Amino acid sequence: MQVKKICCIGAGYVGGPTMSVIARQCPDIQITLVDMNAQRIAAWNDENLDNLPIYEPGLAEIVAEARGRNLFFSTAIREAIDEADMIFISVNTPTKNYGKGKGMAADLKFIELCARQIAEVARTDKIVVEKSTLPVRTAAALKSILHHTDSGVNFHILSNPEFLAEGTAVQDLLNPDRVLIGGEEPEAVEALANIYARWVSRDRILTTNLWSSELSKLTANAFLAQRVSSINAISELCEKTGANVEEVAKAIGMDSRIGPKFLKASVGFGGSCFQKDILNLVYIARSYNLHEVADYWEQVIIMNDHQKQRFADRIVQTLFNTVSGKRIAILGWAFKKDTNDTRESAAIYVADHLLNEQANIAAYDPKVPAEKVFMDLDQLNSRPAEENKQQVSVYGDPYEACKDAHAIAILTEWDEFKTYDWARIKAGMNKPAFIFDGRKLLQRRELEALGFQYYAIGE
Ligand code: UDX
Ligand code: UDX
Repeated sequence: MQVKKICCIGAGYVGGPTMSVIARQCPDIQITLVDMNAQRIAAWNDENLDNLPIYEPGLAEIVAEARGRNLFFSTAIREAIDEADMIFISVNTPTKNYGKGKGMAADLKFIELCARQIAEVARTDKIVVEKSTLPVRTAAALKSILHHTDSGVNFHILSNPEFLAEGTAVQDLLNPDRVLIGGEEPEAVEALANIYARWVSRDRILTTNLWSSELSKLTANAFLAQRVSSINAISELCEKTGANVEEVAKAIGMDSRIGPKFLKASVGFGGSCFQKDILNLVYIARSYNLHEVADYWEQVIIMNDHQKQRFADRIVQTLFNTVSGKRIAILGWAFKKDTNDTRESAAIYVADHLLNEQANIAAYDPKVPAEKVFMDLDQLNSRPAEENKQQVSVYGDPYEACKDAHAIAILTEWDEFKTYDWARIKAGMNKPAFIFDGRKLLQRRELEALGFQYYAIGE
């Protein structure tokens, strides 16, 4: 099977970078990224590369190189499906917010919609690739929809989960630890493997059955999130005992069986994947009556919620048990550095807890616009949007955000925060001037020398 044209449904954080990199590495394959969100497609087509809908280091350069050559962005979903030999499904699969499995299961309505559209439009054989993270055995549902058309068209279904991390997506795609392809028909698996093999060595291209591939993605995210919750649990103990979590992380990370990565204590993990995928795993386990398995993984999320709550509580306690009417500057709104993505960001929850205590929030993030901050807070439905408007202000300049603040909370590890003129910031603040470093980003000694009261996670 020779792939000449690819269509990808869903031009988001996964579809966008993934297709851009494939287009760059395979100039002879024509790739069309389609999305029902016309505004997003227009942004992908914007002449000014600063306006691309997704910020990722190195992405704009690749889009500039491939766009209009073999990479196209369009809202014409049906045409793109019709023309393609291979179709990636990369639409979002949010946690269900209604009905059975509410708050736990993945909402597959977008996936189903894609499958139905493909079934309706296709006139030639297609390889359909699940790129979105899906509950185990979703491929069975896809198959059932696709195979019950009377068109005589053959569909080959593959699972090819994405392991890229936001902020390093381009590098992760160019140099993946592994590429995972699950499928039943060897020719279809081979057709996809041949695409990746243009730049990934064969020994890193892993092929499995469909269900192993689907479950591996959920498991990888669950293990990664578990490491963060594990070190965060230890960070609380460190704060009580005088141990330092950074020293503990280093000491255990040098054990080659444990390894040094993903041991950074933080205000809690965020992002679109970790919580959703674990909830999904928990839901699946419960649906098979595996309650011990479900409880085990659920604890990773309970710990993460606790970490965000206790960080906010610590701010309140330290500020003499009240933040009512006080100005708290929040530096960083994205769920990690080098992305404009705020989904499930710890900053949203910390701000919400502080707003419940009637604090005034002054937020600054290098890549997140004000509308997004308000949208994130309004979506929690904790209070009328009007009140969020009154209690929260968003700044385009960090020094303005910190002016007249009683405390600063660092919630994203943006590099630029390290280079600020902290003496100038302190001069403009209420005294005592507090910093709560949720990322252990700054140097305690330097800040204390300037007269700050400095608190960091796990110290
Ligand atoms: C992805 C994956 O697909 C998800 O399963 C994974 O767990 C997280 O990452 P992501 O790319 O981050 O999602 O989501 P998002 O940025 O929201 O992009 C999805 C896009 O699909 C949106 O632009 C949306 O408009 C589009 N979409 C959704 C369609 O074009 N059609 C639909 O039917 C539904
Ligand atoms: C994750 C997976 O890493 C990726 O393989 C998968 O495809 C999608 O989900 P992502 O959510 O983009 O990627 O970022 P990641 O780097 O994993 O960070 C997730 C969250 O954990 C962030 O909020 C980050 O700040 C936090 N984190 C990570 C920590 O708090 N400590 C760490 O040591 C590592």
